[in-house]
Amino acid sequence: MPCFVATLGLVLLWRLVNLSVAKDTCDIYEAVGQSLTLPFAFVGLTNTHVLRWTHNKTIIFYRQNGRVSVGKKEDISAAGALQLKNIQFSHAGDYRADLRHLNGTLDLTWSGRLCVMDKVLKPELTYVCDIKSNAVKLNCFVAKPQGLTFSWTLDEKTLTSETRQMLSVSLAQLTGQRNFSCGVANRVSKVRSDTVRPVCNKPLTSPDSSLLCFKRTAVVAVLAGGLGLILLLPCGQSCN
Ligand SMILES: *[C@@H]1O[C@H](CO)[C@@H](O)[C@H](O)[C@H]1NC(C)=O
Ligand SMILES: *[C@@H]1O[C@H](CO)[C@@H](O)[C@H](O)[C@H]1NC(C)=O
Ligand SMILES: *[C@@H]1O[C@H](CO)[C@@H](O)[C@H](O)[C@H]1NC(C)=O
Repeated sequence: MPCFVATLGLVLLWRLVNLSVAKDTCDIYEAVGQSLTLPFAFVGLTNTHVLRWTHNKTIIFYRQNGRVSVGKKEDISAAGALQLKNIQFSHAGDYRADLRHLNGTLDLTWSGRLCVMDKVLKPELTYVCDIKSNAVKLNCFVAKPQGLTFSWTLDEKTLTSETRQMLSVSLAQLTGQRNFSCGVANRVSKVRSDTVRPVCNKPLTSPDSSLLCFKRTAVVAVLAGGLGLILLLPCGQSCN
């Protein structure tokens, strides 16, 4: 029994490892909505050839003696390649082409796995001024960051060592107006954020922040005054 359980465990583990490996190994990646010609080409393809394409082991194209019995003639290039249009997730999977001469000789074969992915959406670049750590913290926000590659540019120059979703820059580097943007990419697309010029006011030195400070104090005072009024009123009434 323990042996059986251990074997089962091993098998499960092996399948798990296999699955996770299989998931990430595609020969071709394409974005939803794009067109793609699979990389198969036989120069000198004639009617004396039998051409067969399969998708997930199902025959999707079959041509013999120039007669197409499965699929559409226009889906195949002159060299025998399968042309996919308006790609959807259902187009993903394993493709295989077999080209035989009428006498049975296998002339060319190809197989490969296609992965279909959404294009990445434009990231939103936001920042917070962290006065305590004397830095501005930029965030290249995307809803689903898993598996995406991030990049950063400062004044149109790529910061080659910065590949994370967050970027921290010391306030000392923020002299003048510095233009930041970030980019996200997956295997099929790449898009940049708008340019952001962070402004971090140093407390008590810049006029802007002291103005903000004054406003906040005023708001707090008004609030406190109002509260005082509310609190004092019933008290005054009941005490007298
Ligand atoms: C083919 O298999 C892939 C995964 O292996 C799947 O994503 C796809 O939807 C399948 N397509 C069809 C038409 O069976
Ligand atoms: C089949 O035909 C091709 C082209 O004419 C030739 O090269 C090949 O040797 C033939 N094979 C057989 C088994 O006859
Ligand atoms: C940032 O961009 C603005 C507007 O495109 C430009 O005028 C300014 O010179 C840029 N700043 C730097 C430091 O490159």
